Amino acid sequence: MAIKYELIKECKQSGARLGRIQTPHGIIETPIFMPVGTQATVKAMTPEELKDIDAQIILSNTYHLYLRPGHRLVEKAGGLHKFMNWDRPILTDSGGFQVFSLGDLRKITEEGVEFRSHLDGSKHFLSPEKAIEIENALGADIIMAFDECAPYPAERSYVKNSLERTTRWAKRCKEAHSKPDQQALFGIIQGGMYKDLREQSAKEIIDLDFPGYAVGGLSVGEPKELMYEVLEYTTPLMPKDKPRYLMGVGSPDCLIEGAIRGIDMFDCVLPTRIARNGTAMTSLGKVVIKNAKYTEDFSPLDPNCSCNTCKNYSKAYLRHLYKAEEILSARLVTYHNLHFLIELMKNVREAIRQDRLLDYRKEFFEKYGYEI
Ligand code: GUN
Ligand code: ZN
Repeated sequence: MAIKYELIKECKQSGARLGRIQTPHGIIETPIFMPVGTQATVKAMTPEELKDIDAQIILSNTYHLYLRPGHRLVEKAGGLHKFMNWDRPILTDSGGFQVFSLGDLRKITEEGVEFRSHLDGSKHFLSPEKAIEIENALGADIIMAFDECAPYPAERSYVKNSLERTTRWAKRCKEAHSKPDQQALFGIIQGGMYKDLREQSAKEIIDLDFPGYAVGGLSVGEPKELMYEVLEYTTPLMPKDKPRYLMGVGSPDCLIEGAIRGIDMFDCVLPTRIARNGTAMTSLGKVVIKNAKYTEDFSPLDPNCSCNTCKNYSKAYLRHLYKAEEILSARLVTYHNLHFLIELMKNVREAIRQDRLLDYRKEFFEKYGYEI
């Protein structure tokens, strides 16, 4: 077994869990937020900086690394960890989600997905076997099965077909996986917003016996309340002794609500993407740094933040950098946003330890506001 999950304790106020995952590249404390490094780099951050802010695991993408620079090149470099100089755990997504997002550029069959590269229009084919071959070559600690993420909204019949194909593909992924002792392959539960289809998918995927399970097909444009409802009936179907990963979710409110419903792992491009658009997540809500009201505001982004950006730089300076299109703007705001979410998850873990996650949620929202 590549990983070992230990459930340390459950919160007495909520469904949240405090846990620990041992991987070949070290321990992950859960619930955890995983910064996204799509192209073997968390945009604007060096691995040294990621360590400064205590990032314990990062995510990367099969689809992107297969197209460029190619998984065989990464393998030649000694694997993804060595290639990008990150010696802590890595998780790779299978590319399923990315190719399905290509719209007209792709064709789905039982065998797999034919698609055209978003880079040069060249034709490619991803199948469960191919995705696993790529993930085996990249060498992440946790790898994801090749699934189909249904759009929202979608007809019940479409979602049913797609979840059943996801099960058949999950089985093929498991059979194709050549390094189960070095890389933990997680299954992905689909089923859209239909309760009975989530139950069907959970049963089928869990029957295949993976070392961890993800909830996919959420955060695809549905209202947040609907996502919470789906989580509420899906996580109780998942084994207690394995990690549970909610894919593509990373706004502060959803991280807390997800943890309350028993999720252990999260990832999202949101903190890094909005940072490059000059938006910070702070304990007092969103700060849009380009706003004129910050022109002469010499206070930090977040008065309650201890990060390097907040210790040393003012909103007025960050606004100037953003307006002048200086790359330091993206670096400093990304650093803060990731630090903010990593701190948030430390606070969530502490609240679970003290059986007070619902109290913590209330305190957080009173300061943060109810938007984002
Ligand atoms: N990222 C966000 N949602 C999904 C999903 O449903 N499947 C995969 N593979 N990746 C995702
Ligand atoms: Zn900060």
